Amino acid sequence: MGYKISSFGLGYVGLCSALCFADKNFTSIGVDIDQEKVQTIIEGRSPIYEPSLHTLLQECLDRGTFRCSTNPCEAVMESDISFITVGTPGLPNGSIDLTYIRQVARDIGKALKEKSSYHLVVVKSTVPPGTTEKKIKPILETHSGKRCGTDFDLCINPEFLREGSALHDTLNPDRIVIGEYDKKSGDILEALYRDFYKEKTPPIVRTNLPTAELIKYASNAFLAAKISFINTIANICEKTPGVDITTIAKVMGLDRRISPHFLNAGLGYGGSCFPKDLKALIAYSKKLSYTPELLQAVENINETQPYKAVLLCKNLLSDLKNKKIAILGLAFKPNTDDMREARSIPIINQLLKEGANVTAYDPAALENAKFIFKNKIEYASSAADCIKNADCGILVTEWKEFKKLTPEDFIQNMKQSILIDGRRIYNPEEFGKKLKFAAIGLGS
Ligand code: UDX
Repeated sequence: MGYKISSFGLGYVGLCSALCFADKNFTSIGVDIDQEKVQTIIEGRSPIYEPSLHTLLQECLDRGTFRCSTNPCEAVMESDISFITVGTPGLPNGSIDLTYIRQVARDIGKALKEKSSYHLVVVKSTVPPGTTEKKIKPILETHSGKRCGTDFDLCINPEFLREGSALHDTLNPDRIVIGEYDKKSGDILEALYRDFYKEKTPPIVRTNLPTAELIKYASNAFLAAKISFINTIANICEKTPGVDITTIAKVMGLDRRISPHFLNAGLGYGGSCFPKDLKALIAYSKKLSYTPELLQAVENINETQPYKAVLLCKNLLSDLKNKKIAILGLAFKPNTDDMREARSIPIINQLLKEGANVTAYDPAALENAKFIFKNKIEYASSAADCIKNADCGILVTEWKEFKKLTPEDFIQNMKQSILIDGRRIYNPEEFGKKLKFAAIGLGS
């Protein structure tokens, strides 16, 4: 059935999309240079924490629609369309590292040299405007000895999936963006997606290559801006007695022009995308001699926001020295074990700097957190264990299991019943009556 797919780079984006193709009975080949990762996948184990991914992997392996290898040439030979889904990490100056994507382009180019039948290359990795045309295309052409648009085709197809709901987002996107080198390239990719989504095909927008590249950055920057905006209003609320950011955000969200999404005030955004993409967009703008002041403000606000948790803690405890602080949640958001740019990191480092003893618990990220904090903090095996004898609790990541905790759970376990709600999951009236309680965006 349909086109045969190969996906180069088996991180969140690559593995999830490769398995979704396989699930819909497309022949799908995953390629990665990391032998250990490939072996893990072949054995039916998911190398990343993502709900339902493990089951889907086993089903697709059993059905024979998905296989995995370290051999790029074979994957190109045995597929019609290759997706490039490798990471594009940030460099210290904010711009991005194209090492992996260049390497994959070389590998695909070399394979194309040997191939006589049709092939389409699709860049899915996030890259600054101009990269696909000016950097990827020449590598493909040099190593294949062939011409783009004549002998092979090229598209950029940014993805918008979120960790923790990566499969759902891959199967139910709001839109598909196809940046095309020429009409034929776009026609083939559009045909693939129409075959994949059938009657559920979302709006497909076709653009030139740099427009599609910039759409990805603009979308992530806008969502990051929404978060920094609502956190700014939250900080104003805190200084305004009787005012609560959750009511304000709820009513703002009822305005369809604003929408309720990404209006949850808290300790700021983390993860592998927003911080990196914002930095990359700022670096790209500066290269064009334009200073994007709004984007810089979004970033600055996000840098300072986590320290609000420490300030609220100090307001209620005065001195942090030798106090036991319980951190509930370490991952950058719920339903992931990912600690990249997690807001728990600056919070814990600041608490340690001020002489506090920190104990932390997370349902999934403890192992990854140990690489970061080593033996500087204690690791608890449950929420109850974490808050035991603590002087203050700080809710950092809004996992479902923390939402079930009652004021009595805190009172019975803690030394002092002091709680900071960094993600606004507790009812301030109920908790405020029984505990010393402070929260982001809660005027007191
Ligand atoms: C994001 C984009 O949503 C996705 O489209 C893109 O492809 C990759 O980056 P992800 O990083 O997985 O996805 O997480 P997301 O759910 O968007 O959350 C990012 C951060 O923003 C988290 O730290 C989260 O806690 C924070 N956030 C989100 C808020 O603080 N408030 C909100 O209202 C929403």
